[in-house]
Amino acid sequence: MTRRMMVAGNWKMNGSAAAVDRFAEEISTAVDGLAAQLLICPPAVYIERLGRQVSGVAVAVGAQNVAAEREPGAFTGETSGEMVVDAGATYAIVGHSERRALYGETDQVVATKANAAAAAGLVPIICVGETLEQREAGQAEAVLAAQLDALFDHADQDTLSIAVIAYEPIWAIGTGHSATPDQAQEIHAFIRSHIRDRNATMAESVQLLYGGSVKPDNAAALFAGADVDGALVGGASLKADSFLDIARAAG
Ligand code: PGA
Repeated sequence: MTRRMMVAGNWKMNGSAAAVDRFAEEISTAVDGLAAQLLICPPAVYIERLGRQVSGVAVAVGAQNVAAEREPGAFTGETSGEMVVDAGATYAIVGHSERRALYGETDQVVATKANAAAAAGLVPIICVGETLEQREAGQAEAVLAAQLDALFDHADQDTLSIAVIAYEPIWAIGTGHSATPDQAQEIHAFIRSHIRDRNATMAESVQLLYGGSVKPDNAAALFAGADVDGALVGGASLKADSFLDIARAAG
């Protein structure tokens, strides 16, 4: 099966109204003819602003997180899936390693958030990945298998059938040390085969993104992996020119 390539930008807690405007202007004229699906996930307060400015342009807008709760209520500081849909989001990243490490999100919370995102009409981009210690101890595959199993145990079938999975080794995020193309392909093939054991249809259709120090100069080599269907890009997505260079590398 041919899976469409996707390049998704995760701005994290970066950006400003001016940065959104500049990015939207620079990207709007440049994405025509690019084959990859493009997505930017700015901070939630800028989803609507960015979405308005790229309407009619082949760039989707997404959230970096959504509440686990689906119904409105007394959840100070939270933003629901329905609210980010109202703002124009069509995707939501869930379970980014920073959310897991800094805000205590467990595998179960991640699955609940993925379900909440999907129920609101968002495509969840579910992040998995191992730490450096786990990799050095030879546990990378076991860690990923456990994260994926938790997803299969707690996420709804409807969620899984539309989800995108992002493999983001924690040691590669924001460090400038990307996984090598061989390391990325090896783990992506492992993830796909692990998914195949649980759901053969999903294994073939699911887009597996690589994330962790993806830059214009390493993107093409990473994308050459047969099981690498695109990238989740942090730092290099903040500037339109580097994001576009990565998008071009995806075809
Ligand atoms: P990076 O971040 O590209 O800056 O390494 C990736 C991510 O955390 O999604």
